[in-house]
Amino acid sequence: MKIFKTKKKLKSYLSLFDENINIGFIPTMGAIHNGHLKLIQTSKKECEKTICSIFINPTQFDNSEDFHNYPQTLNEDLKKLQKSKCDIVYAPNVLDLYEKNEKVKKFNFRKIDLFMEGKFRKNHFNGVATIIEKLFKIIEPNRAYFGEKDIQQLQIIKNLVNQINSKTIVIGVPTVRDKNGLAMSSRNKLLSNEDKDKAAMIYRCLNYCKKNKLQPIPKLKEYIIEKFKTTKEIDLEYIEFVALNSMLPIKNWGEEKNNVVCIAAHIKKVRLIDNIIL
Ligand code: PAJ
Repeated sequence: MKIFKTKKKLKSYLSLFDENINIGFIPTMGAIHNGHLKLIQTSKKECEKTICSIFINPTQFDNSEDFHNYPQTLNEDLKKLQKSKCDIVYAPNVLDLYEKNEKVKKFNFRKIDLFMEGKFRKNHFNGVATIIEKLFKIIEPNRAYFGEKDIQQLQIIKNLVNQINSKTIVIGVPTVRDKNGLAMSSRNKLLSNEDKDKAAMIYRCLNYCKKNKLQPIPKLKEYIIEKFKTTKEIDLEYIEFVALNSMLPIKNWGEEKNNVVCIAAHIKKVRLIDNIIL
């Protein structure tokens, strides 16, 4: 496995590849877990070379505490990636990707960012798109893999490639979960086992919505909000039913064909998100 710390060295290595091979790219912020590794495996099945980036992108954090607490486990990450037979890792520092005092770029996501993560984490998606545009320009991948766990991010990236005329094909990969249903996440590293058991409630609530799809949406929302109110240790930030493509809220079933139910919740100081496609 080749490891690069600078875009210059990475680009010069990539320039040696035959133009006909497919390069698969998995951008991450590290603290690699089985969710990330599923993206690597999917890329390995479809592409001749697989590149993973590890970079905790400062411009997508609206909360400096969250940024500073974000787990950093580069050595362990590299071992996991090596074991998964990832071909190339790009793990730069901030100055390799950002100029000093560089401002985040503003994008127009055509309402995809109006609700949920876009609403509760101001500027988050501009930060995500800023770094993904930079990474796509350096790597020029044929295919890039993103988790359905961050479903709104996945739709934002699909929109971004159109905005910047990128040829990269964006592929969504289903969410990998722990046995109790909790979606794998780097932030789970900040939770005790007991916390993780409690956090599995998020998945149970999402599943409840899926199983009770015949009930009206406001009734389902009310049920989930009540459920969270009676569970002390975990606070609901939002529950939203949205159309899969537009990420805009739906009030009634049947308004759109493909929908998603999304939850964000806090347990201690850790913020978790999850969703189920309905
Ligand atoms: P990060 O949270 O490290 O996630 C990297 C990729 O792994 C994302 O596409 C995410 O959706 C996917 N992923 C995370 N948990 C998953 C799970 N349980 N199952 C399947 N896929 C999962 O998302 C980011 O980093 C950043 O915003 C990034 C895109 C790298 C830009 O900085």
